[in-house]
Amino acid sequence: MTQLQHPPILGTSQATWADEAACARDALALAGAAALRDAFVELEGPLGAGKTTFARHLLHAMGVAGRIRSPTYALVETYELDHLAISHFDFYRFDDPQEWEDAGLRDLFGAPGLKLVEWAEKAAPLLPLPDLRVTITPQGEHDRSVRYDAMTPKGLLLIDNLGS
Ligand SMILES: Nc1ncnc2c1ncn2[C@@H]1O[C@H](COP(=O)(O)OP(=O)(O)OP(=O)(O)O)[C@@H](O)[C@H]1O
Ligand SMILES: [Mg+2]
Repeated sequence: MTQLQHPPILGTSQATWADEAACARDALALAGAAALRDAFVELEGPLGAGKTTFARHLLHAMGVAGRIRSPTYALVETYELDHLAISHFDFYRFDDPQEWEDAGLRDLFGAPGLKLVEWAEKAAPLLPLPDLRVTITPQGEHDRSVRYDAMTPKGLLLIDNLGS
């Protein structure tokens, strides 16, 4: 019997961001997806790829006002919009699984709302399958190639308005 090593990708959409404005346009398009109100989106890519930048444009497009901090030090920043909870995680510095319980991360993840996660691989055994994985690959100072992989049926709804 062959073992399934990776969860299947249900659908993929690709984009090129020539500059940050293109990143903002995709964020705006994604913000229009109703399914985002209860979804888990992983943001992948190396340091400085644009994960937090995309998250900022997305959250502003969804109606979050004011400054959006990178959650690198706090592990998570939370936002409360009208009937919508948003948690933005960055697990880059995550090294103590006990924090998953102690800092209330499990509860945030279990609750309905939008979860955005940077550096998910650093907390991999604790995290469920994402609905959408956004992989940002820098090609130059401003150029980014971007891949949107839908990992669940909800992820397919999310990529409906994105890329090609
Ligand atoms: N096409 C682009 N899309 C997004 N950001 C861009 C683009 N071109 C340049 N940038 C710049 O790249 C930087 C990306 O930084 P950002 O903090 O978003 O990266 P990150 O992926 O979150 O890194 P980290 O792993 O450190 O959290 C920002 O300064 C942003 O202005
Ligand atoms: Mg970041």
